Amino acid sequence: RNMTVQDIANVLKKDVDHVFKALEFADKTSDTDYTKDTVIHNPQIIRDIVKISGFRFKIVPKPDELVEEEESKDALPAPPAPLEALRPRPPVVCVMGHVDHGKTTLLDSLRDTSVVDTEFGGITQHIGAFEVKLPSGDKVTFLDTPGHAAFTAMRSRGAHATDVVVLVVAADDGVMEQTVESIRMAREANVPILVAINKMDKPGVNIEKTMQSLAQHGIVCEALGGDVQAIPVSALKKQNLDTLVEALTLQAQLMDLKADPGGYVEGVVIEAQLDPRTGKQATVLVQRGTLRRGSVVVAGLGWGKVRVLNSAEGRPVQEAPPSTPVSVLGWRELPSAGDQVLEVASEKRASEVLRWRHGQRMREKQQADSGAIAAKEAEHQ
Ligand code: GTP
Ligand code: MG
Repeated sequence: RNMTVQDIANVLKKDVDHVFKALEFADKTSDTDYTKDTVIHNPQIIRDIVKISGFRFKIVPKPDELVEEEESKDALPAPPAPLEALRPRPPVVCVMGHVDHGKTTLLDSLRDTSVVDTEFGGITQHIGAFEVKLPSGDKVTFLDTPGHAAFTAMRSRGAHATDVVVLVVAADDGVMEQTVESIRMAREANVPILVAINKMDKPGVNIEKTMQSLAQHGIVCEALGGDVQAIPVSALKKQNLDTLVEALTLQAQLMDLKADPGGYVEGVVIEAQLDPRTGKQATVLVQRGTLRRGSVVVAGLGWGKVRVLNSAEGRPVQEAPPSTPVSVLGWRELPSAGDQVLEVASEKRASEVLRWRHGQRMREKQQADSGAIAAKEAEHQ
């Protein structure tokens, strides 16, 4: 495009004298008498003036130049299953509470393991997912969350992937910061709460007092005339655990939990990591359908074809029906914790979904950038 000296000055936000000066260097050989209306035909001269002026063009798309919205190629959850396809499924129970109040010990006692002993510094740092077979033969899937203040996001993920929250409160310590936070999260996720008042074996603990402080946070136990079940237990000494389990099973029965074990899989990524031994590994909680070897799944910006399925205990399993937590290998791209998992028809379909999702990311980023620029411009005016 041909520009006059004045045009160039305008673009550079300099006066014309600056451009005359720059021209002495940019157009050494000619003897043109430049005025502000002289049209400069040689693009190299214009480029040199720009360079001399130390001007950097920022290429920023205006909102109307944004990449046009593409027709969505995203993968979406299937519509609700017809009633006759639904089958009973085990409850998913998330154990939450303040640090050190005994969540992992409780789960260890329920399944006769000793995870606590293997934890670094006795502090849980990941969400664990386990299946427990109760003496009644019923299965329950437990999610163990960390109580340390730093792991709010993990607690929130746990609360959102679950049917029931078991709130563990140590009777010797009472209601603490993450107890209150856990109550809030369970409420936000609209999940019923069952309270386990733990460490009842400790001398001098006051269970009544714990119930009263819970009431101050809106958790009114049956003993105080409310409708929340609170069961005093000792996770360590395995006292009264059968009462807790009974209360849990009853709660689950009332909820009449069902899912369609057929059709495309839906689930959620509980944890994802690069394992030095096995490579890209993710723990998936299946919520619908049945995950099998060979299933192709997308999750956030991750995807893969299931190569190995392992139970929480590390045993290989053939398939994972609803409410089952499984460790999945076979990821091409590792998803993130919290991502929704969706099964798709083929690897070709998965890459189409991923291409669309990456494009969508870029479109969103562009939109955010131009929004920020518009805001900045408005600020300057
Ligand atoms: P984080 O996951 O780090 O939040 O802790 P946690 O809630 O999982 O607590 P954990 O099970 O690791 O137990 C913390 C400490 O409390 C351990 O030393 C347990 O032995 C002890 N503890 C747990 N339950 C009981 C109980 O019922 N009675 C007594 N006396 N001690 C208990
Ligand atoms: Mg723990």
